[in-house]
Amino acid sequence: MSVSAPVGGPVVLVGCGRLGSAILEGWLLTETVAPANLIVLSPSEKPAAEAARARGARINPPLEALIQAAVIVLAVKPAIWREVMAPLAPFLNDRAVILSVMAGVTAPTLAEGIGGWPIVRVMPTTGVSRGRGVASVWSADADAQAVGRALFAPMAETVVLENEALMDAATAVAGSGAAYFYAFTEALARAGEAAGLDAATADVLARASLRSAADSMGDDGLEALIGRIASPGGSTRAGLDALDHDGRLQTMLKDTVAAAVRRNREMGA
Ligand SMILES: NC(=O)c1ccc[n+]([C@@H]2O[C@H](COP(=O)([O-])OP(=O)(O)OC[C@H]3O[C@@H](n4cnc5c(N)ncnc54)[C@H](OP(=O)(O)O)[C@@H]3O)[C@@H](O)[C@H]2O)c1
Repeated sequence: MSVSAPVGGPVVLVGCGRLGSAILEGWLLTETVAPANLIVLSPSEKPAAEAARARGARINPPLEALIQAAVIVLAVKPAIWREVMAPLAPFLNDRAVILSVMAGVTAPTLAEGIGGWPIVRVMPTTGVSRGRGVASVWSADADAQAVGRALFAPMAETVVLENEALMDAATAVAGSGAAYFYAFTEALARAGEAAGLDAATADVLARASLRSAADSMGDDGLEALIGRIASPGGSTRAGLDALDHDGRLQTMLKDTVAAAVRRNREMGA
């Protein structure tokens, strides 16, 4: 079902790069925003924008079209958002919500640059393009937060954060998590090789095993999932005991997430 009613007017996507295109594809796939309610601003032609145009979205219309806009989704690089917003701001109505998906640009910084509009920050993953993303939402304004949830919940597991500072931790877990998972897959394959498998066979086995595990994860308790595979005294239990000997798995991941949080903070400073 379209969210055009709760959002209450056109949704303007500013920037149709890697993430902007994924968001646009996700909205169309999940019918979150009716194409007639979509405006896309993009300096260059993008396949996702052209696909949206074919379904009725407006691409780079005259800026007067922004006067009715309910939401402006800022999906440009953090370094250029001020110059991108400057020509758009005079056309926005008082009730428009600014939704930023930019990493590291805080709400106070946004308000200082383009004050006057309610702001919601959303940190999504590109999995939204398939309707299977993750998104963290934060806003000091309840209505703006509702807009953020309405636009992302249909295409992402969406969590609302209690305070803006947690955006860095959420990004370190959800934004970077897939890369940790791929690195784990690679390490598992190399460990298989060390145990005698040839490299190609170890790659196939590690990838297929973890792909199937990810598919089966659902919402079941993780301990229960482990218990289904690791019987007491068995080989998987022996492997798990080695994996987390002296809590080293937990320590390693705490260090991993802490390093990513630190870097997120440095980049946002
Ligand atoms: N990629 C991710 O997985 C991800 C995840 C979370 C958050 N983010 C955030 O999302 C934002 C975009 O990241 P990205 O990876 O999608 O970058 P990107 O691929 O470089 O996309 C940025 C887009 O902004 C467009 N742009 C430049 N000037 C513009 C203007 N005046 N009006 C409208 N659009 C303009 C660019 O158009 P041209 O292509 O024509 O130059 C480009 O396509 C960043 O702030 C990033 O922090 C990204």
